[in-house]
Amino acid sequence: MAEHAPSQAPPAVLGTGAAGGKVIILGEHAVVYGHPALAASLDRGVVVRVEEDARGPRFEAPHWNVSLPLEAAADAQPLSQALERVRLAVAPNLTRVVLRVEDRLPLGSGLGSSAALTVAVARALAQARQAPLAPDELMRVVQNAEQVFHGTPSGVDQACVVTGGIIRFVRREGAPHLVEEIAAPHPVLAVVALLRPHVGTKEAVEGLRARRLTHPRTINALMGELGALADDGVAALRKGDLSGLGEHMNLAHGILHALGVSSPDLDQLVAWGRTYGALGAKLTGAGVGGAVVMLTDGDPGRMEQLVVKLRGHGAQAFGVTLGGRPRQGGVS
Ligand code: PMV
Repeated sequence: MAEHAPSQAPPAVLGTGAAGGKVIILGEHAVVYGHPALAASLDRGVVVRVEEDARGPRFEAPHWNVSLPLEAAADAQPLSQALERVRLAVAPNLTRVVLRVEDRLPLGSGLGSSAALTVAVARALAQARQAPLAPDELMRVVQNAEQVFHGTPSGVDQACVVTGGIIRFVRREGAPHLVEEIAAPHPVLAVVALLRPHVGTKEAVEGLRARRLTHPRTINALMGELGALADDGVAALRKGDLSGLGEHMNLAHGILHALGVSSPDLDQLVAWGRTYGALGAKLTGAGVGGAVVMLTDGDPGRMEQLVVKLRGHGAQAFGVTLGGRPRQGGVS
């Protein structure tokens, strides 16, 4: 965060916005081809403040060591372009501003950091312009910004971050996507672990698209299985059958491995998670690096033990409540 001389008044805060990250519990990649996915928001996310700044429009994110002007030009930094798209859509007249970001999500790890950032920025700018955003307007703004990072995303990240909670999502062409909120009878506690940022969502999706052209029968069948497992997961979650959900996650990881979007370090993390008592463990998001989600039996003590074991192997690991939301006024 920029330092201010003690004699100067702190800059006026015009608006704030928050959004949680997300994990895909089941159905990543297959969701791009119209199969269902099961995803959950996280109680860890991004908070944005809009402050007056004569050097604006700018963007500052001390956690990521980033300080940039917002620019719409196609050759500008992707982050700068995406956030300028949001500003132009929500508050084009607010130019003398800085968007200050407080973040507790690692970038580029499949935890929805870019969707959380764009949603939090849109919410903060809407508060600054003193006119709330309708949910469908928010979705459109965020989808447009996310194209800078992801090419043609399925929309599951944005839907999950905008809606919050646990959702079943189906992408539809030429019609609004299906988003159904799923109620679980008990809090669902999980551990997220990562070793390094992933290869990039665009790259992972395009790699799989190319392999699908070479092996259409096999890859289409595996995609169909991932979608069916997502629906099995929805049914298990509704019944509170966490062991069943964990088994579906384990099967899905095997399929994602066969599809070529896992990596040796992700497989190693998954193996540690299962050894240390996770009911299910799989990669989450685009894969080829990135994050693993591990389902626990709901006991906070055992969740913490799993976190400690994984940290002992050098992984960045933390406990999350699936379907949780970041606390108002700060990131948890
Ligand atoms: O950007 P990530 O890592 O959350 O991955 C998104 C999930 C994919 O299914 C791989 C892509 C998409 O657009 O749904």
